[in-house]
Amino acid sequence: MSDAVLVSDLPTPALVVDRPGFLRNVERMTAIRPGPQLRPHVKAFKSTELAQQLADAGHHAFCCATVAEVLGMARAGLDQDLLLANETVDHHRLRAMADLDAPVTVAVDSDTTVDAAADAGISAVLIDVNVGLPRCGCAPDDAGRLADRARRAGLEVRGVMGYEGHVNLIDDRSERRAAVETSMEKLLAAHAEVGGDVVSGGGTMTAELNEWVTELQAGTYVLMDTTFDGHVPFEIAIGVVATVISVDPSGYAVADAGLKSLGMDHGDPTLPDGSVWFCSDEHVTFSGVDVSVGDRVRLLPAHLDPTVAKHDHLWVADGDEVVDQWAVDLRGW
Ligand SMILES: Cc1ncc(COP(=O)(O)O)c(C=O)c1O
Repeated sequence: MSDAVLVSDLPTPALVVDRPGFLRNVERMTAIRPGPQLRPHVKAFKSTELAQQLADAGHHAFCCATVAEVLGMARAGLDQDLLLANETVDHHRLRAMADLDAPVTVAVDSDTTVDAAADAGISAVLIDVNVGLPRCGCAPDDAGRLADRARRAGLEVRGVMGYEGHVNLIDDRSERRAAVETSMEKLLAAHAEVGGDVVSGGGTMTAELNEWVTELQAGTYVLMDTTFDGHVPFEIAIGVVATVISVDPSGYAVADAGLKSLGMDHGDPTLPDGSVWFCSDEHVTFSGVDVSVGDRVRLLPAHLDPTVAKHDHLWVADGDEVVDQWAVDLRGW
């Protein structure tokens, strides 16, 4: 008798990685952006065990969105070149990063964030430039002044970063490429004033389009979601497995995964061959697939990052067999 654990044995809701799809995604991205041309963004998957697989594929520099991610990556020894691609003025958290026995670079976009980094003993920064997404980043023509201030404060200025996330919503590929180019003109103009070796930017949706950055910051590509699916050469390798707990004779059924286990800001999950009616806290109501109470269904999330952040584990499966379990150990702030 086999003692293999099957996906159908897992307590639900369960976040399940399709290992062959994951490995294909890693291989495809590594072909597009080999080695140091990719700085994987750990916020998408929040797992040091998954990050280790990316390091094994040749990517040793990582992006983080939170200080908890930076500290967790350092604890796991994935600390060759960690970037907090985000601003913080939290002195204690900056100190915790500065105290690591590992090189940490932080993004800065104002006098206050430059001074906070210097005061806490951070050694290196990137000047974060607003390239069109209204979220962090200084004006491109202020980048040189900020870099001078940072250098005067004793910080190494390694270069610039600018995330063009606003182009993700552009469906047409040539229009999206033109929008990336416009954004990158701003970033390169800032870089000319700032100096340094690093021009960091981009993401999964611009992996094939952004030819201007020295390193691409991408995370979603590893497991994907339905929002990016069909626009980029990566496949959905993640699902939330749920158990059918009620079937209504009028033609709908209910399973035990809802908005407490699925990131819903980009919309409802997709049920292949079925139709999701709505999600509530712990329920998804759906129709179109013939199920009985106790059956399993696999929901495809619309937004990967917040979905992962709701789970303790990524169960790794090959077909129906569970072959590994990765802790989601980079949660929190
Ligand atoms: C700073 C930064 N870089 C890059 C990305 C791209 O990530 P992804 O590849 O998951 O779209 C993001 C996503 O929000 C981001 O915030």
